[in-house]
Amino acid sequence: MKRVPLVVANWKMNHTARAAAEFAAGLRPLLAPFAGEIGTRLELAIAPAFPALDRLGKALAGSGITLAAQNVHEDESGAFTGEVSLPMLTDLGCRSVLIGHSERRQLFGEGDDRILAKLERLLASEVVAILCVGETLAEREGGRLESVLARQLDEPIRRVAASARPPGQALVVAYEPVWAIGTGRVATPDLARAAHAEIRRRLVAGLGPEGERVRILYGGSLKPANARSLLEQPDVDGALVGGASLDPVDFSSIVSICRETQLERS
Ligand code: 13P
Repeated sequence: MKRVPLVVANWKMNHTARAAAEFAAGLRPLLAPFAGEIGTRLELAIAPAFPALDRLGKALAGSGITLAAQNVHEDESGAFTGEVSLPMLTDLGCRSVLIGHSERRQLFGEGDDRILAKLERLLASEVVAILCVGETLAEREGGRLESVLARQLDEPIRRVAASARPPGQALVVAYEPVWAIGTGRVATPDLARAAHAEIRRRLVAGLGPEGERVRILYGGSLKPANARSLLEQPDVDGALVGGASLDPVDFSSIVSICRETQLERS
């Protein structure tokens, strides 16, 4: 099964609108050698903080790079101070939204029910849900990787199966071991391969052959120096990049490594 490789930048709470525009201006020449492939053979998305979406969208116009959002509220509108709804995001051109990020789970108390409500909202639209999953260090050391993935994935997969949307266009799974996020402690290629294989197994169990079309990204301390060993693993279809995505040079290096490893595979 051939899947289009995908690299997503998650800027978290970094970069003002001005810095985002500067980033785009710096990135575009770096991607020029394969600009014609972006959006067709290789997909790229950037998730800035909400205030930078508009300006970044304009700065990326015509590049093939799409806008993503870091979060969404499950309701369409209403009295939810400080929240942002899906129509607000699509109005600015967002094509995908991160849900279930471990920082949302741990720092903002988002539980599985909330994440499912957000997923349902996205499934009722044409926007892609990038569902983040992954175990904490205690869970891994306690041998609970599989049960954590089952809890975080199986019900979302059932919801995708029950929706009218083609799974490969509705869902992307990002495997982000919590102990690797922002710590400089990257998963070994063997650990990533095993976790991605387990996620693929669950996708195919729940979605049948369509589960082969869902892309699985690796995230957690991914840098130009370690990207190749991870991206060349089977079932690693791309990356969700935090810290290293803030710099156009590092980000473009990761994109170029992703392109090489995935094209070598086909
Ligand atoms: P880092 O790449 O900074 O570890 O962050 C990963 C991440 O959480 C992306 O969503």
